[in-house]
Amino acid sequence: MNIILLGAPGAGKGTQAEVISEAAGIPQISTGNILREAVKNGTEYGLKAKDAMDSGALVSDDIVIGILKDRIAKDDCKGGFILDGFPRTDVQAQALDDMGVRIDKVVEIAVEDSAIQKRMSGRRVCENCGASYHIDYKPTEIDGKCDKCDGKTVQRKDDRPDTVLERLSVYHKQTAPLKDYYGKQGKLVSVAGREEISETSAAVLEALGI
Ligand code: AP5
Repeated sequence: MNIILLGAPGAGKGTQAEVISEAAGIPQISTGNILREAVKNGTEYGLKAKDAMDSGALVSDDIVIGILKDRIAKDDCKGGFILDGFPRTDVQAQALDDMGVRIDKVVEIAVEDSAIQKRMSGRRVCENCGASYHIDYKPTEIDGKCDKCDGKTVQRKDDRPDTVLERLSVYHKQTAPLKDYYGKQGKLVSVAGREEISETSAAVLEALGI
């Protein structure tokens, strides 16, 4: 099954992509994680992406489409995949169609902008492996230390309040219209992103029939 997760920044796409990946045994492809790794390693496209990411803007379509093409060509994607953070523009959605990628379901995780601010300010990520936590909703076992690899957990630069506002504005202008695009194809299901992560997961898995 090929799945797209749509939703505002901080709606919980990454959190739910992990849950679906485990339940369905298919890989989670997060363009944000791939880009952050590239920035960390100082690769050519990492250097190009850094400024856009730090300011809350989107990275250019050609870079992200190139990354996505390479990633879905890998063997582990043969049985399906979950796209977390792609597509984000109509150009990217069109590129998926042009690649001949068949999308089975698009799940929107719907969360009000006001709730997003709170979630983002509490998010912490492991600077070593990228695992994501929340100081209230998904705390680490030991404060400041990743449960998976013992790395240090930190706040993402783009989770600062001003940048979150910019990311929300970009989402509403450029990404939210994709709901119509996939709605017209009969592929969109919308799930309310609740306060409890496990309740949201149950609704997402039910929507996907997993
Ligand atoms: P990316 O990393 O994709 O950022 P995003 O879409 O803004 O999404 P986030 O990772 O911030 O949030 P999420 O929805 O995954 O939420 P999470 O599960 O972590 O992209 C970063 C940047 O890269 C972009 O701004 C852009 O510059 C660039 N980029 C990436 N893809 C691109 C593309 N295709 N085109 C162009 N540029 C691209 O949850 C958030 C927090 O809330 C966590 O702390 C979590 O624990 C908590 N939480 C989750 N669910 C719940 C719940 N139900 N209740 C309470 N708390 C919850």
